[in-house]
Amino acid sequence: MRSSSGTALQIEGTGTELEEIEIRLLLEGIRLCYGYDFREYALSPLRRGLVSAMSREGVRTVSAYQDRILHDAACMQRFLNMVGVNVTGMFRDPELIRAIREDVLPLLRTYPSSRIWIAGCATGEEVYSVAIVLEEEGLLDRTSLYATDINEDMLAVARLGTYPLERMRRYEESYELAGGRRSLAGHYTVTGRSARLNRRLQSSITWAHHNLVSDGSFNDFHMILCANVLIYFRASLQERAHRLFYDSLVRGGFMALGKRESLLYCPDRDHYEQVRDGVSLYRKMRW
Ligand SMILES: C[S@@+](CC[C@H](N)C(=O)[O-])C[C@H]1O[C@@H](n2cnc3c(N)ncnc32)[C@H](O)[C@@H]1O
Repeated sequence: MRSSSGTALQIEGTGTELEEIEIRLLLEGIRLCYGYDFREYALSPLRRGLVSAMSREGVRTVSAYQDRILHDAACMQRFLNMVGVNVTGMFRDPELIRAIREDVLPLLRTYPSSRIWIAGCATGEEVYSVAIVLEEEGLLDRTSLYATDINEDMLAVARLGTYPLERMRRYEESYELAGGRRSLAGHYTVTGRSARLNRRLQSSITWAHHNLVSDGSFNDFHMILCANVLIYFRASLQERAHRLFYDSLVRGGFMALGKRESLLYCPDRDHYEQVRDGVSLYRKMRW
């Protein structure tokens, strides 16, 4: 047990059996009350998010936190913001974006139209990165981008497409590493301290709420990008998400994951081939 600004947070460090029970009850309550199912999320990141959320609310025990969250939808939203881990950025994995530009888009260019799903898109930076690459390759007009997340707050920020200018300037180097053809600054306009991504990039994007735990598959995607989401899931939930992705991909479609993610828990992993060494980009080759 450790104390933080006078508040003893009982779940910091390794949990006791009682805390495990409290966490389980909390997750069951959230599921019954709000329909969000976190029971198959990996415990350590979930516990870290919970510690931050409890500290923010100023509650000492998971049970007290449960009481608050079940009676206050705004508290639930704050929990989602903490536990969903919304860290993101533009061209966050430049090698992956470069591989998409060089290995995926030449093939998509041969199709009259194509569909891309970006799952767990957080505040949208990754989606705009892909849209920029599509625009530079002359494919934006004939590509439909579907960007989804469970967190409506994140989607609201994503829809705006406006980010702090200082942060945008820091993405310039990753943009170049990802094979950028111009300057990232050419893709946004500056107002005061904000950078607003060009409206043209928005035109092909549909933002939607979708939960990888409980919602069904979409159809016929030529590429699915789901980065830095599955690391927060236990094996069983990763399996479910992979099944969803596999069913949503066309034959020959591409599956892109985060740097630290792989097809380890994908039941259909033998049906994919890795496109480029060292990059989590795979192609569905057998079905
Ligand atoms: C760490 S962010 C990753 C953002 C982005 N993909 C990237 O790599 O920069 C994880 C995102 O996954 C979302 N997420 C968590 N659980 C989810 C679920 N069950 N279904 C859909 N999205 C989920 C969170 O809301 C959060 O926005």
